[in-house]
Amino acid sequence: MTKSAPGIPGSLSIRHLPGLRGVPKSDLEAILDTAQSFREALDSGAAVPKTLTGVSVVNLFFENSTRTRLSFETAQKRLGASPMNFTASGSSAAKGESLRDTVRNIESMGAEVFVVRHSSAGVPAFLASQTGSVVVNAGDGACEHPTQGLLDALTMRQHLGSLEGKQVTIVGDIRHSRVARSNLWALSTLGANVRLWGPATLLPRHSEAFGPKVQVAKSLNQALEEADAVMLLRIQHERQSSGLLPSLREYRHSFGLDGDRLRLAKPGALVLHPGPINRGVEIVSEIADGPQSVILEQVTNGVAVRMAVLHLLAGRNTNV
Ligand code: CP
Repeated sequence: MTKSAPGIPGSLSIRHLPGLRGVPKSDLEAILDTAQSFREALDSGAAVPKTLTGVSVVNLFFENSTRTRLSFETAQKRLGASPMNFTASGSSAAKGESLRDTVRNIESMGAEVFVVRHSSAGVPAFLASQTGSVVVNAGDGACEHPTQGLLDALTMRQHLGSLEGKQVTIVGDIRHSRVARSNLWALSTLGANVRLWGPATLLPRHSEAFGPKVQVAKSLNQALEEADAVMLLRIQHERQSSGLLPSLREYRHSFGLDGDRLRLAKPGALVLHPGPINRGVEIVSEIADGPQSVILEQVTNGVAVRMAVLHLLAGRNTNV
């Protein structure tokens, strides 16, 4: 893998990261290359440029998170920032203050970067249009989770090399998954072919909108055949009560990944999951914790990817 230096702050064509749809391949590759160089530095204990020193960063989380929130905070601290953390439940948002007022007030305290998670699709894009600050999406409703898509691509690239022509299968609740959406935009831009499978009620209605490299499979077996990587999505329990999902037992029977099913993919195919896992539902523990699983590598790469995004979008040029 590369031993390159991180990319130069401000060198991307984008100013915010509301999603991966439409992000040029050159920007995706620049982020992944920079993330790879940060990952190598973190692994070896080498110094990284403190390009967020003096930059005021705010993590705005209106929805729960473990991996994304903590890895953004870790990334910010590694780059020299002292982030502020906002959670909706302890704030005046709980008294009814609007999102726009919340952000404009925090911006008046000097905030320059907002990392935003919200249950409503479109919030990061809206805030990017309302503030002069850099806005990075940490997951918005069923729309996008761009840093998750990037960390998944980085993890696949580390094992598979170039993603051009690689076959990636995504199984689960595709329709409501921001992870699936960000993945399919990034993977198709990077040249991979994506196959989708899940309950008919949870597949996208208009998959042709995702372009020719994204296809809905005809069966689970066909989805898994010759796959280089298999990504399972978390089944959201609330779908059960909305009638969109059979029972969890039935889901496991029809869609869960076990050893027999994984053998349909290429030998050594990667197994990915964004977390949190419902063990025994979308994936059995032997596979989640087995030799083909890269689930914890995804989490480690999350720090490097978030460092790369923040460094490139909001970093200040500095010496190491
Ligand atoms: N993958 C992911 O977004 O996990 P969290 O909800 O814990 O951040």
